[in-house]
Amino acid sequence: MSFSKLTVRDVPLHDKVVLVRADYNVPLSGDKIGDDLRIRASVPTLQYLKEQGCKIVVMSHLGRPDGEVKPEFNLAPVAARLGELMGEEVVFLDVCYGDKVTQAVKSARAGDVILLENLRFHPEEEANDKTFAGKIAKSSLARYFVQDGFGVVHRAHASTEAITHFLPSVAGLLLEREERTITHAMEDPDRPLYAVMGGAKVSDKIKVIEAFVHVADKIFIGGAMANTFLAYKGYDVGKSKVEPDQEATLDSIYKAVRKKVGDGNPDEFIVLPVDVAVTAKIDPSSKRHNEKVDSIQPDAIAADIGDLSIEQFTHQLAKAKTVVWNGTLGLAEMPEFAHGSARVALTLASTPGMTSIVGGGDTAEFVLKWDGGDGESFSHVSTGGGASLDLMAGKPLPGVEALLEARK
Ligand code: 3PG
Repeated sequence: MSFSKLTVRDVPLHDKVVLVRADYNVPLSGDKIGDDLRIRASVPTLQYLKEQGCKIVVMSHLGRPDGEVKPEFNLAPVAARLGELMGEEVVFLDVCYGDKVTQAVKSARAGDVILLENLRFHPEEEANDKTFAGKIAKSSLARYFVQDGFGVVHRAHASTEAITHFLPSVAGLLLEREERTITHAMEDPDRPLYAVMGGAKVSDKIKVIEAFVHVADKIFIGGAMANTFLAYKGYDVGKSKVEPDQEATLDSIYKAVRKKVGDGNPDEFIVLPVDVAVTAKIDPSSKRHNEKVDSIQPDAIAADIGDLSIEQFTHQLAKAKTVVWNGTLGLAEMPEFAHGSARVALTLASTPGMTSIVGGGDTAEFVLKWDGGDGESFSHVSTGGGASLDLMAGKPLPGVEALLEARK
């Protein structure tokens, strides 16, 4: 699949100072990083720039500190982990513009990496403020801007949009890989293409579900989202979580499905669980038992797809050539209710010749734990949550739109 933007490979970066936007918004408790996928995924671009003899200034946000300096969101732990991965020290600065940055860049050697402090300590970042972006560009002494923070390109912020008004701006290798892989799956996949959608809310994923109604050969629904579908179809789902006011949305999804399948059965295209794993209360000690969807008890809470549904989903998924998975199929953080997600992960990881694309956020976190941390069992584990959903839905991504167009 062609990628329409210039990348680091297309411009003469040799011996230049380069400003890189990464997305190091990683789960952090104290200074312990929960999952370092986003840090690891940024390394190939940084290595490439190092080989070009660049001085590399990296910037990122972490969390949502709302424009204030909040020490729990400082990026020092990320600098330490990045240094381990790069095999040499990463210089961490507690500011993101000004003299301190300029001096650090001047005294850096070719190949050195400098990480700036959390951009969101300044309200100007999320306001897409040009003056702020200009200060960062100027004090970094950069000659090029490289966008490699795929997870944040759906935001029009100072470090994703305004910055591109100050420096020639190109894509990094991670951004290019994410764009190519996800776009290829949506536009020209090896078929059958099956989508697996889970998570809590239909309303968060409506645009993606609509996109899959057009491009996929089947859509499997799990998670709390399945309860909303089942309730819409007239099943009594007991005390399970159901998203209110979704009738019009589901009417329009099924209308599009009927148009697509013609005389076919819409229920063979949108595959819902036939049974659910229920519990009386959500608690680490809770045990699951299966109930058919037409006999869910009034006090039951569905917390995973049921055992029969697991067999049916995985049997069909094993026939796919491409699977895109976004959203866990139950309360996957609790082992008792992670069976559905674990069996889907196993099917994707063990079916020969299958292209498996796992959307970011909770699903990526789940498969990384399942896989022992590196996600190597899957073709692609996306570093983007909202960004990957927007890309799949075909929405423009401001942080990508702003980059220099490659000549056709
Ligand atoms: C993400 O984690 O999805 C990105 O880093 C964007 O973060 P945000 O949702 O706080 O803008």
